[in-house]
Amino acid sequence: MPLHSIAVPDSIAKLPHTEDAERLIDRANERIEAFMLSEKTTIENFVPCDFHLLDQALTWIDQNHLMTGRRFCEIGSGFGVGALLASLRQWESVGIEIEPRLVEQSNELADELQNEAQFYCGSFIPRGIDDLADWATEVKNVDSEEGDVYDEIGWDMGDFDLFFAFPWPGEHGFFEAVFEACAADGALLLTYRGREGMDLVRKV
Ligand SMILES: C[S@@+](CC[C@H](N)C(=O)[O-])C[C@H]1O[C@@H](n2cnc3c(N)ncnc32)[C@H](O)[C@@H]1O
Repeated sequence: MPLHSIAVPDSIAKLPHTEDAERLIDRANERIEAFMLSEKTTIENFVPCDFHLLDQALTWIDQNHLMTGRRFCEIGSGFGVGALLASLRQWESVGIEIEPRLVEQSNELADELQNEAQFYCGSFIPRGIDDLADWATEVKNVDSEEGDVYDEIGWDMGDFDLFFAFPWPGEHGFFEAVFEACAADGALLLTYRGREGMDLVRKV
């Protein structure tokens, strides 16, 4: 099995947040609400995850020393809250988002909070994946165009230790397939699954 499942206990929901994380989440929620109200056209594919649960999952991964290094990438980063929370842990943190308005919002939030996460506009899907066209037929809410954003970042998917994504229901298989094809052995993929909570796999 190239992807090994790691059970994330429900008890992570009891883990505390730092003051900085609480402040970040509160400010992000305020900005997201203001952005949604002010935009004339909605961004259909953008829905924020449960930021508190995401922060707790990152804490749990950190406390259990599950990462093989300190590089984090939020794929489809929306407002960038996952990348910003990761950066609070002094991880080298990147968000990749295809919608320019969301990248602008992420950068503004990072500036306001003096957070060092870096945001890039483009597709998280690298070029040259053989079976991409077949997998892409299974997703409606992911833009399946390939991009060159990793050239701009200076790292490719194989250089990251932990990825986070919030796939739409039924679309997590696409993220796992891209992760399995391109991530390094030992890398982790954390996905938010709505009411089912957090799911974690390692490429082995
Ligand atoms: C469900 S939202 C999740 C946002 C954020 N990760 C969160 O949890 O709050 C998915 C995001 O992925 C973005 N997206 C879709 N296809 C993409 C692609 N190929 N590359 C980068 N971003 C993409 C969408 O624009 C959207 O903002």
